[in-house]
Amino acid sequence: MPVTILVGTQWGDEGKGKIIDVLTRDVDMVVRYQGGNNAGHTVEIGDNKYVLHLIPSGIFRESIINVIGNGLVVDALALQNEMQHLVERGISVKNIQLSDKAHMIMPYHCMMDRFREFQREEGKKIGTTGKGIGPAYSDKAQRCGIRALELLDLNLFKARYTEQAEKYNKIFSEAGFETLDIEASWEEVKAAAIYLTPHIKNTVVTVNEAVKANKNVLFEGAQGALLDIDHGTYPFVTSSSTTAGGACGGAGVSPRYIDDIYGVMKVYTTRVGEGPFPTELDDEVGNHMGTVGHEFGATTGRKRRCGWFDAVASRYSCMVNGVNKLALMKMDVLDQLPELKICTAYEIDGEVTKDFPSDCRALEKIVPIYETIDGWMEDTSNITKYEDLPEKAKKYLDRVAELVEADIAIISVGPRRDQTFEISK
Ligand code: IMP
Repeated sequence: MPVTILVGTQWGDEGKGKIIDVLTRDVDMVVRYQGGNNAGHTVEIGDNKYVLHLIPSGIFRESIINVIGNGLVVDALALQNEMQHLVERGISVKNIQLSDKAHMIMPYHCMMDRFREFQREEGKKIGTTGKGIGPAYSDKAQRCGIRALELLDLNLFKARYTEQAEKYNKIFSEAGFETLDIEASWEEVKAAAIYLTPHIKNTVVTVNEAVKANKNVLFEGAQGALLDIDHGTYPFVTSSSTTAGGACGGAGVSPRYIDDIYGVMKVYTTRVGEGPFPTELDDEVGNHMGTVGHEFGATTGRKRRCGWFDAVASRYSCMVNGVNKLALMKMDVLDQLPELKICTAYEIDGEVTKDFPSDCRALEKIVPIYETIDGWMEDTSNITKYEDLPEKAKKYLDRVAELVEADIAIISVGPRRDQTFEISK
């Protein structure tokens, strides 16, 4: 496995952490390149379940270097907490490197995130995770953000922190919103900065040296392509480049070195937060998917909306990402459904299209056109080979692959590490 990017192709929560964990058998380095602790990657090893938010999923294999790249926004307190929790559970964090160019999420960003959501009218709320992601990326774009390298000089850092916090407090107090206790919060932020200091590195060099030395480097995408700031269902998106292209900017590596792009997708669709979702099922089948698939957000615990597999959205996603290998997730969730549907086209204002619209208003008007396929009505959770899958299940998976125009590489039939198998087709 040479240089690989792994991305979510739907609205996030596809099971990327699990696939990364499987792929890391052969990996030397795992690199996160966008997002922040809005992500929640669940990894189950034996009887242990871990949820990672900022730390790359390579952390469970000791030899792997885990890089938090320049493209992330990093909540210093959240990262410190996450590292300390892993240490308490016996997992070493010595191989974590935090890019000196990553922007930091500070307590006022989280407050601003909640404040903006509160201010948005009903119907225009984004349903953010409240983790400060949008405000931190806004500061980055406005060129007033605090980068990790500033944590290395506590005097300068304190001056910058105070200056920024006062600016935010002015906005909060003018709106009659609760303000931040700058002195008290500084003490926590300072402790986190001291804790993180040994991990702050020039990771652009680390990553490029690994690539040049022919190491196996895996770029771990967070969220999903349909939440991408440019290519997703704007404005109901996150604030970073979640698609494969984001890996190059977010880690400082040239597109020339990328060999493979894995697209992870559930064999149905879910979405958490607001925004259009053409194949959403507000009925018993949707509830069945949610219950059997344990569809609750790993970061916020929110119930995920569920629906049929949307081949229009996923095909678009595979195109934008250049996916050449598919990881198809959560097959077992469909085991007990006698009839399955795949959305193969959209009808919008009487016109039929297979192209994913750029405009959210069009997405809201969609009438999905479905193809019906027989369910396999058998337990697949113990299957370990493609050949052993029920014929009807193979037919469903092959149809999904055909519609999204990529090849199946991995199939997952349950949450455990051993419920995943690779295939070469
Ligand atoms: P933000 O990233 O917190 O600003 O939230 C923006 C939108 O992205 C909201 O609809 C969130 O629910 C969604 N979102 C952010 N991170 C994730 C994730 O890891 N999985 C699924 N949805 C996410």
